[in-house]
Amino acid sequence: MATVTSGLEHIAAAEIGDAFLGSQVEVQYDRKDYPGRVFFSVSNMTEDSFSILNGLHSVEYVYCLIGRITLQSCCPPPAQPTTTTDDTEQLKSSLQEKEGQEKQSDEGEKVAEKKEEHKKRKKAREDDKRRKKKKTEVDPQLKEKALAEIASAVSIYNETDWETAYGVWKSYARAVKGIRNSEMLSTAIFSVSARTAGSHLFRENEMGETLAASIQTLYPRWRQQCRNSEMEIMAYLRNSELILGFTITQSSLSMSHVSASRDLGVTALKPAIAYAMLRMAQLRPGMIVVDPMSGCGTIPQMGSNIWSHCLYFAGDISEVAVRKTKNNEDSAREEKRRTAPCDVFQWDGTLTPFRDNSVDMVITDMPFGKRIGNKQGNTKLYPRIFQEMYRIVREGGKAVVLTQETELMQSKIISRKTWKDEEHMDINQGGMKTRIYVLSKVNASEEVQDK
Ligand SMILES: C[S@@+](CC[C@H](N)C(=O)[O-])C[C@H]1O[C@@H](n2cnc3c(N)ncnc32)[C@H](O)[C@@H]1O
Repeated sequence: MATVTSGLEHIAAAEIGDAFLGSQVEVQYDRKDYPGRVFFSVSNMTEDSFSILNGLHSVEYVYCLIGRITLQSCCPPPAQPTTTTDDTEQLKSSLQEKEGQEKQSDEGEKVAEKKEEHKKRKKAREDDKRRKKKKTEVDPQLKEKALAEIASAVSIYNETDWETAYGVWKSYARAVKGIRNSEMLSTAIFSVSARTAGSHLFRENEMGETLAASIQTLYPRWRQQCRNSEMEIMAYLRNSELILGFTITQSSLSMSHVSASRDLGVTALKPAIAYAMLRMAQLRPGMIVVDPMSGCGTIPQMGSNIWSHCLYFAGDISEVAVRKTKNNEDSAREEKRRTAPCDVFQWDGTLTPFRDNSVDMVITDMPFGKRIGNKQGNTKLYPRIFQEMYRIVREGGKAVVLTQETELMQSKIISRKTWKDEEHMDINQGGMKTRIYVLSKVNASEEVQDK
């Protein structure tokens, strides 16, 4: 199983399929039930398979699964329907009644009554709070039962499942981590990383601790250690399905494809998203690719690493961003990652130095007005930047853009019919919903009317 950016599961599935072309590989994903997860099986994992895995760009982490099982008692029982005329409601209506009567009472009584009402309201609020708290309190017996099931889950997977997955982890440790000592491999220092999605009777850390104790009993020669473990066992409980597996990547794979000493800006794009945008652009040899708002240069850097048969130009209005892109270019060259040229400029993306119709593809991550720029500024910037892109992109050329400004895109860009929305996809960028558009230039003879 691989973890990926939610919304880009199909890009990861396609990359995995391509990477293992020639081997027997089955790839599946379910965006609704397992967002951000791609399941795949490769028959006959060899040492070469690990270098293929390490070469994936759209993937964050890879796990070798022990298995997936459905648990019976980990979720809270369904909530009992609540009566609509509960105490609070009754109290509210009696207070309203009193409010009506109050109009007739004299001033002195009014003050006393107000005080009384204030007390009652306060009590009602406190009762409400207590009731809500009680609702979230977990029955200790149910919790104990749920954790006991978690503990026993470890031995539900049969020995072969464990041994097969453990075998893959050992091959990975030999091939990638270079651990050859067989004694070391059988006395692994392990940790459990537990994640849950949905409502459960226990917390993530309780699930992790329970699983760790259970695994320790199953493999007495292993030693549990929270930090600096050699082997990480991943537990992912989504509603009532528990997935257990060995983590077989040390760090984010997508991050490993950009320079290790990357000079980051506050808006630096995730390399996996840059990869997806470049892949969606369907670049062909010799294409001229421009990122007019390149920030620290993630898109052109990723592009010139992988689609090295293209020519890249990057620029930004900010001097700091341009310096960062240049630093990243230099470190990539030093690390011999750079295979295609990329020229870096400081420019206003609405006034670039390119001739009309001279660029094949614009790929850019637009300012959303969150970490950089603002909504009002975007209303002016977007039409101008798209007008410039329109000018420089040749007929039949495309723009792949990432933004959160979907309404602005619809009202000011796509509705003008100069850029056609060929394809778009919504992704989850660290909790923020953004959209990647693939736009094609509609008609070069048509002038964009900027309001
Ligand atoms: C979302 S960030 C791009 C981040 C970039 N993809 C990265 O990985 O670092 C948007 C960039 O647009 C730049 N920008 C804003 N207005 C611009 C303009 N008129 N011309 C060129 N760049 C501009 C900002 O300086 C910022 O670096």
